Amino acid sequence: MNNSTKNSTENFFIIVPPSFEELALKEITFKWPLIIDLFSRLNNLPNESEYVENIKTMEKQIQIEKQIEQIYGGLLISLPENMGYLLNPILKIPTRILMRLTSFKCRDFPKLYNKIRKFPWNKYLKGQLPSIEASAEKSRLHHTGRIIETTKEAILNYYQGQPPSKKSLEEVKEINIENFSIYIRFENDICTVSIDTSGEALYKRSYKKFVNEAPLRENLASGLLLKLNEFIDFPEGEGKMLIDPMTGSGTFIIEAALFNTLNFTREYSFTLFPCFKKYISNYQTLQTLQTLHSSADDQLHHLQYQKYLAIDIDDKTITSTSKNFELLKSLNLNSIPIKLIKADVFEMSYVNLEPLKKVIIVNPPYGIRIKLELKFKNKVNFFQKLITTLLDNFKPNIIGIIVPRDISYKQFKLPTNILSLSVFPFIHGGLKLNFIIYKVI
Ligand SMILES: C[S@@+](CC[C@H](N)C(=O)[O-])C[C@H]1O[C@@H](n2cnc3c(N)ncnc32)[C@H](O)[C@@H]1O
Repeated sequence: MNNSTKNSTENFFIIVPPSFEELALKEITFKWPLIIDLFSRLNNLPNESEYVENIKTMEKQIQIEKQIEQIYGGLLISLPENMGYLLNPILKIPTRILMRLTSFKCRDFPKLYNKIRKFPWNKYLKGQLPSIEASAEKSRLHHTGRIIETTKEAILNYYQGQPPSKKSLEEVKEINIENFSIYIRFENDICTVSIDTSGEALYKRSYKKFVNEAPLRENLASGLLLKLNEFIDFPEGEGKMLIDPMTGSGTFIIEAALFNTLNFTREYSFTLFPCFKKYISNYQTLQTLQTLHSSADDQLHHLQYQKYLAIDIDDKTITSTSKNFELLKSLNLNSIPIKLIKADVFEMSYVNLEPLKKVIIVNPPYGIRIKLELKFKNKVNFFQKLITTLLDNFKPNIIGIIVPRDISYKQFKLPTNILSLSVFPFIHGGLKLNFIIYKVI
């Protein structure tokens, strides 16, 4: 390994929505060569052949899956510091990425104060007081309010001993402190101090500006698309089209179209860490890359759709969603072939689409935030009718549909050529939902 890539290894905690842990792990394994690729670029690996060799060696050394520990609501991974930071613009399923700064046994406040006061904060902070979140479980120190206060006082005291430069303090004025967080976690009297490397939650992509009623969170949409992909086994070389017949603000379509791209359209906290300063100019060069270039990579290639069709019944939604799709052009991704149609999916007749395999993904109104139309007897009847209508109108190969968990999908009376392949339970905005995948045979 080239000297310039030597980088201390740190523990990262990748926060993911509960039940999406395995999918998040899968995303990392699929994108692993690209993570290494970006890391190598950031560290300025010199010539092409050496660079490729390095990637290969590193891939072997790391054996990624074995290195990641899955826990409820997250993944733990040990990575070179800079590589962990780069997960932010690459991954689409996580909510945020924390880096562990220090960990110690602690059963009293004076020790907490001293440990925090002695930590070299100037590596990560420019003189600002970050927002502090605390949690405590099975520990002598369990008063989270007091843990937060003690941490704040200790950081302020640290600054008294190591005053930040004037320039740093000027820069701090530009920072949104809300997006700068330290996490203090007590478990069995072990105190773990972590820093957020993301800033705003990662599902805030910045490129989708217009939001309609009941949108799905972007990272959940990406996770469900990856889940759906597990059941797509079309022969090599067959193109596929993604159809969202109740598209709302277009989340599924946008997430699918951008799944393999890097998100440099927003800020991440790690870029403001003083220790990252020496990489900034290389990072700025990376920002000019729009897509993960390794299109030869089979697994990522498999996730791509050749065409997209989005439908919605609502005029206002169509107007704002067309603006969302327009925004993709500003990302230099105007070659993405998306067709947006205003229609009532129940009133449509067979749509003669191109000879591509068709994958439908749909997040219908659940009758909670958006009222179901009165013409359906009940919710079971609505979902049943929707699935059969989708079969008739689009002749799809696969359908992935979100159904509230209180609706018994087992009661759906469906044609015999449709098989239920998978039921994936998850929670969105406090609602318990199932993502059901059907295959048409
Ligand atoms: C739950 S929202 C979808 C949210 C979307 N996944 C997002 O993230 O923005 C359901 C959408 O279905 C649309 N819709 C309701 N009935 C419809 C129908 N009969 N045909 C087409 N669209 C319909 C609504 O206008 C609404 O935008």
